[in-house]
Amino acid sequence: MTTTGKKVLVIVAIVVAVVCFVTGLLIGWFLLDDLMAASETTSNSTVTSAQRTSPEAAEDLMVSAKLMEEIQASHIEQHLRFLSERPHLAGTEGDQRTVDYVKQEFEAMGYEVTLYPYDVLLSYPVEEHFNKVSMLDGRGNAIHTTEPGAKTGSAWDSEVTWPYCMYSPSGKVKGKLIYANYGRPQDFKLLDKKGVDLDQAIVIMRYGKTSRGKKVREAARRGGAAVILYNDPADVNINVTYNVFPATWWLPGDDVEHGNIRTSSGDPATPGYAATEGAYRIPKKQMDLPSIPCHPVGYRDARVLLQNLDGESAPEEWQGKLGIDYMIATGTEGALPVELTVKNTLDTRRVYNVVASLKGATEPERVVLVGNHRDAVAYGALDPGSGTAVMLELARAFAAVTRQGWQPRRTVMFCSWAAEEFGLIGSTEWVEEKRRWLSDHAVAYLNLDTVLQGNYTFDMSATPSLKAAGMRAASKVPDPHDNSTTVLDVWRQRVHDDRSPHQPWIRRPVSDTDLQPFVHLLGVPVTHSRYSFVEEDGVLVYHVRNYPLYHTVYDTMPLAAMMDPNFAVSKAVAAIMAELTRDLADSLILPIQPRDYALDIMMHLKEPMQKAADKFNNSVFYLQSALDDFLKSSQDLQKEIDNQDMLNLFEIQRLNDKLMLFEREFVDHKEGTHLFLTHGSNSKPSIDHPTMSAITQALRAAAFTLSS
Ligand SMILES: *[C@@H]1O[C@H](CO)[C@@H](O)[C@H](O)[C@H]1NC(C)=O
Ligand SMILES: *[C@@H]1O[C@H](CO)[C@@H](O)[C@H](O)[C@H]1NC(C)=O
Ligand SMILES: *[C@@H]1O[C@H](CO)[C@@H](O)[C@H](O)[C@H]1NC(C)=O
Ligand SMILES: *[C@@H]1O[C@H](CO)[C@@H](O)[C@H](O)[C@H]1NC(C)=O
Ligand SMILES: *[C@@H]1O[C@H](CO)[C@@H](O)[C@H](O)[C@H]1NC(C)=O
Repeated sequence: MTTTGKKVLVIVAIVVAVVCFVTGLLIGWFLLDDLMAASETTSNSTVTSAQRTSPEAAEDLMVSAKLMEEIQASHIEQHLRFLSERPHLAGTEGDQRTVDYVKQEFEAMGYEVTLYPYDVLLSYPVEEHFNKVSMLDGRGNAIHTTEPGAKTGSAWDSEVTWPYCMYSPSGKVKGKLIYANYGRPQDFKLLDKKGVDLDQAIVIMRYGKTSRGKKVREAARRGGAAVILYNDPADVNINVTYNVFPATWWLPGDDVEHGNIRTSSGDPATPGYAATEGAYRIPKKQMDLPSIPCHPVGYRDARVLLQNLDGESAPEEWQGKLGIDYMIATGTEGALPVELTVKNTLDTRRVYNVVASLKGATEPERVVLVGNHRDAVAYGALDPGSGTAVMLELARAFAAVTRQGWQPRRTVMFCSWAAEEFGLIGSTEWVEEKRRWLSDHAVAYLNLDTVLQGNYTFDMSATPSLKAAGMRAASKVPDPHDNSTTVLDVWRQRVHDDRSPHQPWIRRPVSDTDLQPFVHLLGVPVTHSRYSFVEEDGVLVYHVRNYPLYHTVYDTMPLAAMMDPNFAVSKAVAAIMAELTRDLADSLILPIQPRDYALDIMMHLKEPMQKAADKFNNSVFYLQSALDDFLKSSQDLQKEIDNQDMLNLFEIQRLNDKLMLFEREFVDHKEGTHLFLTHGSNSKPSIDHPTMSAITQALRAAAFTLSS
């Protein structure tokens, strides 16, 4: 062949490749809308009809109804009353009291109970001293000192720890105060633009929009010497003239949010492995701990501090609702200095996960896990009591129906985690200890935490493959406020998905709760269930970042009773969890939908792939084709399931293995993260070369699992 001939051939090849590539992209994205519509049709039908016809379908319905009928609001209330009576910060006497309670309750129901002890590094304020912030006058005398925090009037108030930031180092820092809004990267960028020097400054930020740990880390990285955190009324008392707790659920000015300020999770002394007795502990120098002191204050104190700021008026977006002009400290003189004092101590204490098991009848080696943390920053009625109370009643319902002769196909475990407030410690240590076993045996992990985050609508975040199962469970439970309709109907009406208006909006899994190690270290499908939002005087309170009394001393029984007077909302969540757990533990074919996963990935990668196409066209091509293969394998598997002979148990086992295991491929073991379900759940992925090739490989491996 002549050189010219070769050239022509090469050019033809390139043209063909480009045309194929572009068509591939177009077809992929064209189809996406059709596929989404199709997915809606199927999820509509899976919602309304029993998923699969099998000899067991009728019995499923019966068990389902029995489990839900068992659940009683009064039991949930009783558990909550006990659990929230006394403060139970992890590693304290109050915490041990809840360990004993949960263990005894499980045992009384007839469960086999195992305690998993871990010796973990926790952080507490030093008793005789209280952490504080003072404003100084020109001579260095304190002219205002922050309060030690609200009290509830309960006999157990003396057991509440003073407001503090867990893992803040000790220190006494004097410096200029600088306001940095929410402490997001864009907030610090604005300070840069205004020429504000953070060196040796004390940075005051409001809670919200990004984690406490990230705020502190960013301030430290920019030279800040210490941090003050507070809740602005704009976020926790949107209408400052409202009455506050106990008349309403709004945060009063003297109540302070506590919380952990690390950016990593698990026991800081045993990163990546379990903190069992005698395990090696890394030296403190090597631990991933915050580097500058931090102290939380109430908004009454924050107002005094912020009022004293100097400089220029901050933009609208930075203005909170303290009724003052929030300033950006552009000046060098003027404002009075501030002194922050923190005296905390790190202490290794023993904490316990309490795990109750119900053995499966036919596939005991496959396990459905339900979990919830038990420790609280103080009384913890909502966080996490509302979840623990629901989980205990759920466990009782399973035990009661089991006594009537039923046994789930697969094993069910109810897990009460320790030390979540210190960075998901109990769940993370357990996953680290049982990593291999869980990877082989865990079907799904269903998380509870603050069940009563609101009372307006059911709210779920989930791995895409469990969305349909979540909706189906919600379709079987009457709405707690109006029994003529279902939870699902109210849910999809109140928080609908804009892309498929007949479906509720189900977010990707939230990362700041115990489902995180299951998703990121194992690739186990997860859900997180709760009620959210509150409608007040016809105004929907959407934009508070959590419930206003979150992580404060007022998170108590009266608050729970105000939000859920008859415990009907808690009962509805327990019923949904009962059905979801039954479905996963007892359905012949696992209710896991790889196709929904494929569609979700396509939707999320669509934009970044189009953006990356100019720069990395080959890689985008491979990624596109891997995505197509994954979608096709998931559709083929669905067909195979639809045509399956439900009596061939060997075949069913094989199909279930595929459903259970494909998502394991999505874990990036080097990074300890999930490739598709990133932290911060709704952040847009951006893809560069290495992530693209990791994603391509993962999709190929998952497609292989589904089709092999
Ligand atoms: C799904 O169900 C809703 C409500 O029952 C109905 O209005 C809608 O048309 C259905 N969507 C499809 C695609 O069938
Ligand atoms: C507080 O809320 C009420 C009811 O929504 C409203 O009428 C009033 O104007 C609000 N007051 C302020 C100061 O925002
Ligand atoms: C539904 O609610 C109404 C009124 O609140 C009540 O009378 C009725 O018994 C309830 N029905 C069921 C099935 O619970
Ligand atoms: C929902 O919670 C809010 C805030 O606690 C409360 O004012 C309201 O009465 C509750 N609504 C219902 C229906 O219980
Ligand atoms: C693909 O990438 C190569 C090298 O970066 C570039 O020369 C070519 O123009 C790209 N093609 C398309 C269709 O973007």
